[in-house]
Amino acid sequence: MRTTCVITFVLSGIINLCAQPAARFFNEADLITTGVYYYPEHWEESQWERDMQQMKRLGFEFVHFAEFAWAQLEPAEGVYDFAWLDRAIAIAAQNGLKVILCTSTATPPVWLVRQYPEVLIEHENGTKTDHGARQHPSASNNFYRQYALKMIEKLAQRYGKDKRIIAWQLDNEPRPSRDYGKDARQRFRNWLKTRYPSIDSLNKAWGTAFWSQTYRDFEQINIPPTSQMFMNSHQILDYNRFTTDETAVFLDEQAKTIRRNTDGKQWITTNYIPEYSDGHLRKSGELDIHSYTRYMVFGENYGIGRKGYRLGPVERIAKANDFFRTIDGVYGVMELQPGQVNWGKINPQPLPGAVRLWLWHVFAGESRFVCTYRYRQPIYGTELYHYGIVGSDGITPTPGGLEYARFIQEINTLRNHYRKNAKNPDAYEKRRTAILYNHENTWETERNKQTTEWNTEKHLDKYYNALKSFGAPVDFIDEKADFSKYPIIIAPAYEMIDKSLVQRWKEYAENGGNLILTCRTGHKNRNGQLFEAAFAEPIQGLIGAKIDFYDLLLPETPDSVLFEGRKYPWTSWGEILIPEKNTETGAIYTGDFYEGRPAVTFYKHGKGSVSYIGLDSQTGELEKDILKKIYSQLQIPLLNLSPGLHIEYRNGFGIAVNYADKTYTLPLPESTEYLIGGKEIPTAGVSVWIAK
Ligand code: GAL
Repeated sequence: MRTTCVITFVLSGIINLCAQPAARFFNEADLITTGVYYYPEHWEESQWERDMQQMKRLGFEFVHFAEFAWAQLEPAEGVYDFAWLDRAIAIAAQNGLKVILCTSTATPPVWLVRQYPEVLIEHENGTKTDHGARQHPSASNNFYRQYALKMIEKLAQRYGKDKRIIAWQLDNEPRPSRDYGKDARQRFRNWLKTRYPSIDSLNKAWGTAFWSQTYRDFEQINIPPTSQMFMNSHQILDYNRFTTDETAVFLDEQAKTIRRNTDGKQWITTNYIPEYSDGHLRKSGELDIHSYTRYMVFGENYGIGRKGYRLGPVERIAKANDFFRTIDGVYGVMELQPGQVNWGKINPQPLPGAVRLWLWHVFAGESRFVCTYRYRQPIYGTELYHYGIVGSDGITPTPGGLEYARFIQEINTLRNHYRKNAKNPDAYEKRRTAILYNHENTWETERNKQTTEWNTEKHLDKYYNALKSFGAPVDFIDEKADFSKYPIIIAPAYEMIDKSLVQRWKEYAENGGNLILTCRTGHKNRNGQLFEAAFAEPIQGLIGAKIDFYDLLLPETPDSVLFEGRKYPWTSWGEILIPEKNTETGAIYTGDFYEGRPAVTFYKHGKGSVSYIGLDSQTGELEKDILKKIYSQLQIPLLNLSPGLHIEYRNGFGIAVNYADKTYTLPLPESTEYLIGGKEIPTAGVSVWIAK
């Protein structure tokens, strides 16, 4: 994400105060670079050399240091100790490993917490977090924010121009925290004051005439408790916006602090958890690159078939790739599971081959780097049973460690086949589809579900998985994106809208774009209020239909809709549509008192079209078949990939990954030149070929 750029000239030269176009940090011919987390402070210094030599032998190209090491970096207030880190960096460099440094803000030292207890997160019942774990400080505490930046500045002053350091990772898996402390409350009030010109406008936006909730002053407003039922949902919406801003702005402040001290050659990222509804993921404009962490096997994450839990679901890495790639054009993966983890309800072994499968899947999404958490299995601390690249003896590679080494070797082979400007196949690019996503809609549909049968992410997955079965590349875009780049845009359950978005959708379709809107779209304004108009009236002209009413069924009494002679069951959400004269009915309800009435409509709009899919089917088959029809009318060639099989292209290479419990035959011509694997792709298998 780019922000306005300021270049300042000072005596010492040019200081670059802006995020950098991300691709320039990577050599395209390298394709991807692989690294590993290492915590020198956990191990005898006499072992550092041995460990880093072995990392190099296994093929790793970079090492990640100093995460959670604040206590070692600043052992007492204002006393900094970088000597140990200097020695670790020197050993890394001697062994040909580049270094990523972390800002370690997730774990303030005990002296800081005891001297300034206000930095701790206050829970709504008045209790506080304490020293002894991590992520106990609050990003909304003024002192903590300032103090953390001071430590970061010292670190950046020391290493910001060090050629051995390639990048910085901020914090650890930053997420909004819920702090009921004094500073957080005041910051929320201040945030509201900048959003609303007067308390009256806030009252209007929050609908506080309801239940006598009217405020007379911003200073009367508190952080909404979670333990109290029926809290004002518009207030909750704003509170969520506030906490995502707090997280994003704190990251931006960290990034700016580092950038002030670098010569612009090191890139800055953080390691987000891809929880798309978190909302702060796209907000930090100061990061050069966005990266994510992914864990696939932790006992409750079922993939396909009886062994599916040993591989995880195929869309888990795929969706993260497609979400993160579109933020800056390039992305990376900061943590990827190397083997068994310790924090699931049940922690099974991944299937042999799974780690390599995930690595290749990350590669397929165009990732520029991948880093594994962690090198050595810890022998003390909270993550005792967590696998690493080597086991508890610190020496013996784990099965996952060997799979990493194999992947790195395979990438080295692929590098020999790198062709500058190699293109992806035309048919693949023709299928490229955008999914328009705004986390605020997920907040709304999840909070005001109306039915326990509804699941926002599963609704989106019905479209996403259909697209992947077509072999379509998918870009998750936001409202700032250039819509005209995409022949097809799907906006699933896009509940909150405004006039300007509807206008942009109209222009997109008029100019030849094909927009697919799905049920629950256009019900609310951006404050989360219904329109004082017919239901979803602002989109009526756009979709060429009215929404008469919607129905929700009980799980034990599903009904069905009829589409091109086939019936599809549904329970969760069904809108009964009244099409205009020129609007084609796509599917109709087959049961109940609205039998025969439309559930899906197609409307020609200017040079393009708007399709409205007014219901959420049980299995996703309906969504898939409707998309098939739309794509075939547009003469877009589709594949028909079996469940668990994904095919992607990058840098002129085709990559197939198989998460299914059976061997598949790839739908590729006999003449295909495979570099890895072949036409038959087994469970956990990977095939890579040269794209023609
Ligand atoms: C991640 C976290 C890491 C480590 C890992 C263990 O979520 O970012 O620091 O705790 O889990 O699997």
